Amino acid sequence: MTTETRNFELRLKQRPGSDVSPDDFTLGDSPIEAPQAGQVLVKVEWLSMDTYLYERTIGDAMGPAIPLGSRMPGRALGTVVSGGLPAGTLVSGDFGWQKYATVDASAATALERNAAPDTWYLSALGAPGLTAWLALHKVLKPAAGKTLLVSGAAGTVGSLVGQLARELGLNVIGIAGGAERCKWLMQHGYQAVIDRKTVTDWKQAMLAAAPNGIDFYYDNAGGRILEAAVQAIAPGGRIVLCGHSGEYTSPTAKLTATDLLYKGLTLHGFRVWDFTAQFKEARAALLDLIIQKKLHMEETIHHGLASAPAAMDAMLNGNGLGKHLVKVHED
Ligand SMILES: NC(=O)c1ccc[n+]([C@@H]2O[C@H](COP(=O)([O-])OP(=O)(O)OC[C@H]3O[C@@H](n4cnc5c(N)ncnc54)[C@H](OP(=O)(O)O)[C@@H]3O)[C@@H](O)[C@H]2O)c1
Repeated sequence: MTTETRNFELRLKQRPGSDVSPDDFTLGDSPIEAPQAGQVLVKVEWLSMDTYLYERTIGDAMGPAIPLGSRMPGRALGTVVSGGLPAGTLVSGDFGWQKYATVDASAATALERNAAPDTWYLSALGAPGLTAWLALHKVLKPAAGKTLLVSGAAGTVGSLVGQLARELGLNVIGIAGGAERCKWLMQHGYQAVIDRKTVTDWKQAMLAAAPNGIDFYYDNAGGRILEAAVQAIAPGGRIVLCGHSGEYTSPTAKLTATDLLYKGLTLHGFRVWDFTAQFKEARAALLDLIIQKKLHMEETIHHGLASAPAAMDAMLNGNGLGKHLVKVHED
């Protein structure tokens, strides 16, 4: 049981611009709601910073826009305080940006502790890990010895894609923002990196980084990086469209039939939720790699509920490596 009596939450005050500011939110409080029959009271321990959430603060491309004045939703990890599950059970769910969540028991997924840190349920063993593994294994299906280009390579999905690709025997070329992130990629087995913050000619940069050609492209960026990848990739190349971080506040990619047709390219728009039937297989494979210490997740931790806006901004702008998380009860 908790001795606290008040819950604190962050509400969306105004739609953010290209940067996310604490001024875009207000902090509200209310009594902690006791769970009714069939409900659980969860102490929200960790908030997951994800691009889909930012997309929902600015518009409705990734699901309904979050109404102004309402509590921020968002994936999270917590422990059960009381209600329909044993106290102390580790649970995940869309608990939102608050310190305590009173939710139906069906909205809290009980998790088993395993070889990975608990927080990896929000990254390597959560939606980002499933996304990386499934898009690579079920869509791109690359053969060993081939070359894969990855954008957003130092982020959550991208860093997992890179590790999984190397495990498959691929040459991996990463695109990331800034010298520090590029250096980190080179220290982690990438054959070459492209710093998106210094590139002037994208096609030339890609061809220079991959003298033997690019066979596969894992796209987390969209925009002009995707346009250039279509130009630079080898005939018969395969591209998986996973995210479009480069298009939130910049023009979307323009692709022509000529580009795609005469090179015989395949583009696959990937949505992880189309692959639920393969989640079990993907989770087992990811956990196996974790147990073998072949999969690592870098984390950037932000402290306290009030740090969530800054955490979202850092995640979007690539300030900090890997998965961005907010440790909620650390104000
Ligand atoms: N399709 C699906 O089912 C699915 C599921 C989960 C996630 N996703 C997508 O996968 C992508 C990666 O997700 P994540 O959670 O791992 O996020 P993330 O990569 O940790 O964070 C986003 C990254 O985008 C990069 N970025 C920012 N502005 C950019 C720009 N103008 N051009 C190119 N890159 C830019 C930044 O890295 P750098 O500064 O290093 O470039 C930033 O760190 C996201 O687009 C997300 O929406 C898709």
